[in-house]
Formats: sequence, C-alpha cells, structure tokens
Amino acid sequence: MRLIEITPDLLTGVEEMDNQHKRIAEYINYALDLAAEGKVEDAIAFYRETILPFVKYHLSSEEEFMESIGYPGYEEHKRYHEAVLKLFTQLGKELTDKKSLQSTAYILSGWLYGHVGKVDKKYGEFYKEVCLKNT
Ligand SMILES: [Fe+2]
Ligand SMILES: [Fe+2]
Repeated sequence: MRLIEITPDLLTGVEEMDNQHKRIAEYINYALDLAAEGKVEDAIAFYRETILPFVKYHLSSEEEFMESIGYPGYEEHKRYHEAVLKLFTQLGKELTDKKSLQSTAYILSGWLYGHVGKVDKKYGEFYKEVCLKNT
C-alpha cells in the first residue's frame, strides 16, 4: 500500500534530505503493509526499532545541515523537531494493535507531508538562494 509518497513538490532540493524523506515514506508504507498482512507484531517492532530511530537520525542530520549553512530559521525549526519527536516516541510506546499502528502511521505521514512541504522546503529555498549562489 502506498499511503505516502514524496512527490516532486515535496523535494527540498537538498539531495541527502530528500532521500531521507523518501526513506521515511517507504518505511511507513512498509509498516502498513506488514499490518495489512496480519503481521502486526512485526509492524510494531519495525516502527520502534527502525522507523523511530531513523526519524530521530533524520531530524538531527537536518539540524546539522541547517547549522552548517547558517540557516536563520534553525532554532524555530529545531523546536518543531523536538515536539514531534516527543509525540512519535510516545505513540511508539502506545502501540498495541493494528488500529493503533495504522493511526500512528497516518499521523506520521500527515506530519511528513505538512512539515516537509511547509517547513523543510524553506531551508531548501535558503540553500538555493544564498548558499548555491555564493559558490
Ligand atoms: Fe525533514
Ligand atoms: Fe525538518
């Protein structure tokens, strides 16, 4: 099942970050596939052991990237990350069955669409306008 896909309008133009966003989307789809096949325990383990650590890794790589380019929206962006990481960690602890797994996957994909489209793309624009022009 393809619940989420990183479409061209969601690309930041920073290749590494775009690849990480795509990977998160693939992971969400995979967890939903597992759940749909009745492998709910596997899907929950996949969320806790693979998705959540990768999301954490992604958020910190993004923060490092923003710092490295002197992005002015860094502090605010980091606060969004901190809040959402708390939420996804909490949701991970509360996973018990197919329904909770699916709703967590929907929340995560909704966040990914909104955050990438509205917040992440801004560092992409800054990178293109300020950093690439000066090279
Ligand atoms: Fe991101
Ligand atoms: Fe972000």
